[in-house]
Amino acid sequence: MKHIFTTLVWLVILTPLFSQELRSPDGKMVMNFSIQQGGVPTYQLSYKGKIVVKSSKLGFELKNDVKSLVNDLEVVNTSTSAHDSSWEPVWGEEKTIRNHYNELAVTLNQTGTNRQLIVRFRLFNDGLGFRYEFPLQSGLVYFVIKEERTQFAMTGDHTAYWIAGDYDTQEYDYTTSRLSEIRKLSKDAVTPNASQTPFSPTGVQTALMMKTDDGIYINLHEAALINYSCMHLNLDDTNMIFESWLTPDATGDKGNLQAPCVTPWRTIMVSDDARDILASRITYNLNEPCKIEDTSWIKPMKYMGVWWEMITGKSSWSYTNDLPSVQLGITDYTNVKPNGIHGATTENVKRYIDFAAEHGMDGLLVEGWNIGWEDWFGNEKDYVFDFLTPYPDFNLVEVREYAKQKGVKMVMHHETSGSTRNYERHLDKAFQFMKDNNYDAVKTGYVGPILPKGYYHYDQWTVNHYQYVLERAAEYKIMINAHEAVRPTGIARTYPNLIGNESARGTEFQAFGGSKPNHVAILPFTRLIGGPMDYTPGVFEMDISKLNPNNDSHCNNTLANQLALYVTMYSPLQMAADLPENYSRFLDAFQFIKDVALDWDESKYLEAEPGQYITVARKAKGKGEWYVGNVNGEAPRTSIFSFDFLEANKTYVATIYADAPDAHYKTNPQAYTIRKVAVTNKSKLSQRSAPGGGYAISIVVADKAQLKGLKKL
Ligand code: NOJ
Ligand code: CA
Repeated sequence: MKHIFTTLVWLVILTPLFSQELRSPDGKMVMNFSIQQGGVPTYQLSYKGKIVVKSSKLGFELKNDVKSLVNDLEVVNTSTSAHDSSWEPVWGEEKTIRNHYNELAVTLNQTGTNRQLIVRFRLFNDGLGFRYEFPLQSGLVYFVIKEERTQFAMTGDHTAYWIAGDYDTQEYDYTTSRLSEIRKLSKDAVTPNASQTPFSPTGVQTALMMKTDDGIYINLHEAALINYSCMHLNLDDTNMIFESWLTPDATGDKGNLQAPCVTPWRTIMVSDDARDILASRITYNLNEPCKIEDTSWIKPMKYMGVWWEMITGKSSWSYTNDLPSVQLGITDYTNVKPNGIHGATTENVKRYIDFAAEHGMDGLLVEGWNIGWEDWFGNEKDYVFDFLTPYPDFNLVEVREYAKQKGVKMVMHHETSGSTRNYERHLDKAFQFMKDNNYDAVKTGYVGPILPKGYYHYDQWTVNHYQYVLERAAEYKIMINAHEAVRPTGIARTYPNLIGNESARGTEFQAFGGSKPNHVAILPFTRLIGGPMDYTPGVFEMDISKLNPNNDSHCNNTLANQLALYVTMYSPLQMAADLPENYSRFLDAFQFIKDVALDWDESKYLEAEPGQYITVARKAKGKGEWYVGNVNGEAPRTSIFSFDFLEANKTYVATIYADAPDAHYKTNPQAYTIRKVAVTNKSKLSQRSAPGGGYAISIVVADKAQLKGLKKL
């Protein structure tokens, strides 16, 4: 009797007060929303009949609140709908993107407070997106978020590809470990002596990639991060439950909202094939359509930079080692001694323009062109750069005219020194100055702690700053490539003038001690989920001491791998990062960088395993050409794939840039081979990649004369 009674009590406790199911269009994913005892909203996600996210709680704690928005919630309304449409991105991995999902919106009311909250779920064939919406209501107008309490309950101790939680930087190498090992490893996963520390020993950043022991890939991220704080994840590593952890502002608050408003979407991609994660367009689909009417001025771009020479320490951003002060209005450098290694001199810039023009590069970035650098280094000052005044050895007008004559677009650089306030003060003048001088694109940067002090790179205020700059730039028809800004969340769908972001460990770290050789086989599964990265590939001289004898860093990838990055790391903005003199030594390999397209009609993910290998084939926009890229991790590996993506009854010439048999990222990175073969859609390739290596292939329709003497694959 007692037993039956206990069972009954359990049944009551476990039986949800409300439950509703949502299925993906193909039926493979099922999301279950329910209200548990106590009025606690939860969701659960299954894939092909297996639970992938266990029952996970939803809700908020608000500041100074009488009652948290986590319980006593009841369903007052639900509505479902189906959506299937297509849209064409201004630039992208494919010409047309399908947006296909089933939706469930649940309106909740909190008993006692009478406050309302809507949870909107969209279930796609490749994952789930959901967000909170606060409708207009008298009981909740202005409010401050103390904590978002969204859970992602994992089913086991999965393998994760993670970087430690940090409010100010994402520029870390990834660690691959079990979830249960994050606590032990996180201290060492951050840069030694960095000012940043993980906010929790089990805190990680998104996009977080995971793999279960039974081969299911799960990716957690967010979409449409607008007027909200960026979400990290904090793991309860006893129960393997992640919970949202928003970036606080200087006062510790996690968001200042005013109803009606919505949160960003929380996304969970799921598949048993890693290639589906790379092909998923959930993040873009959950963003608003393009808000820029005339997008004709937004153009993909291949660019070089007076940049790598500063990054490697061969030359300097600053003009002098003395300390003139912009803040005190000292802009007259007549009596200031130059340091002799300033990179952005008119003469040096012209040398790059010549090379860029000769090799068909679209643009040239020049860093260190403007006064303020010597003032800034090591100083947290509010006024450093005015974004207008060139150093005396950089003749902006002469460079402008020279570049115009040679058909090279100059790319502006605005290092803000983290002072968002200073940048906003100068923004209109700086953008007008760009337009007056023929600049259409700017690389912005946010190195150092955010000023005003106490704010973080990823809090709501600073997120709003990046968005403000992006929207103002659109008014000026300016394209933005933001470094050190918040990780992208698909906003480029709405504002496609956001042609690049860094927001991860880019190539610069190859000159700051090196990155892991498999880094580039992880980034497309993590950082690139939210949008393109200005990874700045194309390093041909891996031994950095050849550029600067005082820098013993090493670029931990082979030259063939560097070529492949132009295909595997999708971006409408691609840099050829190395110096002209290094490209001149390997012009046969440089040919691939010259040829490769930036914008695509189609992308086929041929092979993929996070941290191990990625092979992608892409068809150039509006052309019959294809490009293939493979990046490989630490272990040598042979790819085998078919060219069945090519058009039938056509013969193409494939130029294969591959690792030589003795290539190795550490000991022999410049060993590559180039061979030409004839291919059709029946051809198959078996191609070995070295440790930290890869290959790149250009495939062009050929006539009889071009095919003469070529072996058929
Ligand atoms: C860090 C950026 O990532 C790098 O590309 C830039 O050159 C420096 N900041 C200086 O602005
Ligand atoms: Ca950076």
